[in-house]
Amino acid sequence: MLKDLLEARLAPALHAAGAPEGSAVALTVSTKPEFGDYQMNGAMGAAKRLKRPPRELAEAVLAHAQLDDLVSEASIAGPGFINLRLRESVLEAQLDTFTARVLNPKAPSREAGRVLIDYSSPNLAKEMHVGHLRSTIIGDSLARCFAHAGWEVLRQNHVGDWGTQFGMLLAYLNTLETGDGTPAADAELADLERFYRKAKARFDEDPAFAALSRETVVKLQQGDPACRTAWQRFIDVSLSHCEALYGRLQVTLTREHVHAESAYNEALAGVITALRDRGLLTESEGAQCVFLDEFTGKDDAPLPLIVQKSDGGYLYATTDLAAVRYRCDDLEADRALYLVDKRQGLHFKQVFAVAKAAGFITRPCSFEHMPFGTMLGEDGRPFRTRAGDVVKLADLLDEAERRAEMLVSEKNPDLDAAACAEIAKAIAIGAVKYADLSKHRNNDYVFSWDAMLSFDGNTAPYLQYAYSRIQSLFARAQVAPEALSAGLSLGAPQERSLALTLLRTEDVLAQVRDQGLPHLLCTHLYEVATAFTAFYEHCPVLNAPEESIRNQRLALAHCCGETLRQGLELLGIPVVQRM
Ligand code: ARG
Repeated sequence: MLKDLLEARLAPALHAAGAPEGSAVALTVSTKPEFGDYQMNGAMGAAKRLKRPPRELAEAVLAHAQLDDLVSEASIAGPGFINLRLRESVLEAQLDTFTARVLNPKAPSREAGRVLIDYSSPNLAKEMHVGHLRSTIIGDSLARCFAHAGWEVLRQNHVGDWGTQFGMLLAYLNTLETGDGTPAADAELADLERFYRKAKARFDEDPAFAALSRETVVKLQQGDPACRTAWQRFIDVSLSHCEALYGRLQVTLTREHVHAESAYNEALAGVITALRDRGLLTESEGAQCVFLDEFTGKDDAPLPLIVQKSDGGYLYATTDLAAVRYRCDDLEADRALYLVDKRQGLHFKQVFAVAKAAGFITRPCSFEHMPFGTMLGEDGRPFRTRAGDVVKLADLLDEAERRAEMLVSEKNPDLDAAACAEIAKAIAIGAVKYADLSKHRNNDYVFSWDAMLSFDGNTAPYLQYAYSRIQSLFARAQVAPEALSAGLSLGAPQERSLALTLLRTEDVLAQVRDQGLPHLLCTHLYEVATAFTAFYEHCPVLNAPEESIRNQRLALAHCCGETLRQGLELLGIPVVQRM
């Protein structure tokens, strides 16, 4: 990585200049290209601690640093920044090994780390709706990024299949089965949303049915075989609805990643016992609670984490405590990332703190809630249908494909229907995913068809288009990229700037993994595509003055195309050859 190269020289120099052990080099990308490629900010922090003039320390750093082979210009600016400009020869050499180092996926190894990613995790009582879209899309992109870097990735789809509403659903399923027989039940299950509404209506108006529903939950949780069979049938149908969507969205989750709430059923009693043994349980209004000093609510009143209800039933938090133990002890994860709505922030703070206090985290495993905001409609309110219902994911994707198809056939009237449909599908998936991934996940974002399907600006179609332009360049050049001999020379400023941007990919990917922020990759790919456009405008490729320059430019374009393809793949977005 470029940063590593520089840091390896700057850290010892900072130390030799008298900075205390462990002072940070604090290297960042320069804010303006005129300043250079990177700037070191660490001299200022260290000088402050040493009570020395920062520019003087910066000068001492430069006097000690051996940078000649890496850097063509190093200068001190402002209060003590050190601006650095890399040598072209360094960029050229780095680019030679770029594909092997950065673009090719690494084989998974425990060495790189083992990361567990809890994502998608819908509640199976209902059909998946847009609220699960963000978790699914962001989680899947992170899973791809970690896998690409050689981490072992454990995908966990923590689906909700165990709450009290299942009693109601099963009781309703039973009445259908004994009444009209199985086919009727199958037909009813085809639309889970309607099935849920009907069951709920019955539950609300028929006290006998409500009582039956409550009995059914208890029977289910005690393992009654008939209940279990009916429940399994319901879960299977429900999961196949999810899988159909994962397929359409090109999300990598499969049945084997489902580790449902019910899977922790046997472990729940043990959680309560362990908390009691640790002296952490307090009874409050009949319920079993854990109070930790750090959690207070209104008027500083202590805030409990409730782990068992007065009727003996367990809660969402109990299951999550059992999941912490499983993920730490059995799965031996090094990091566990939870892609869940930010409104559950307090829940996870409490669960992780209680798990720590109870000694459930027995190995160095970092538990990290990676929250995200709400998807809003263009009116700035949570995204809903005109009628005010939650939007089903399947309907959303239908609409995306319809709109994309219109765009594609408008742009390419002579494209045949099959090709058009295929391109439209890639654009639709790309637009929906990228609109989500390109924003900082903590923020709410506005879902806008026009913005996400635009071919200009930081959008998926813009990046897919940049990729397809590079492909058509090669088609016109009539050369295979493999036939181009290596060896780049970065004469023009636009060539240099494109190369430098490409070479930042590795640092960006590391940051995406550290912070769980795929939007950093989106921004980066947008910069790559923008740098490509500038290069393409200023540096003739097919009409280059010399054959060797033409080949070098083609090689650079190829590197750029591969970065876009690989980068989009890490976001879960397909590319197309033409559009
Ligand atoms: N099923 C939950 C919901 O839809 C999300 C589960 C997230 N994961 C977890 N371990 N709690 O709100």
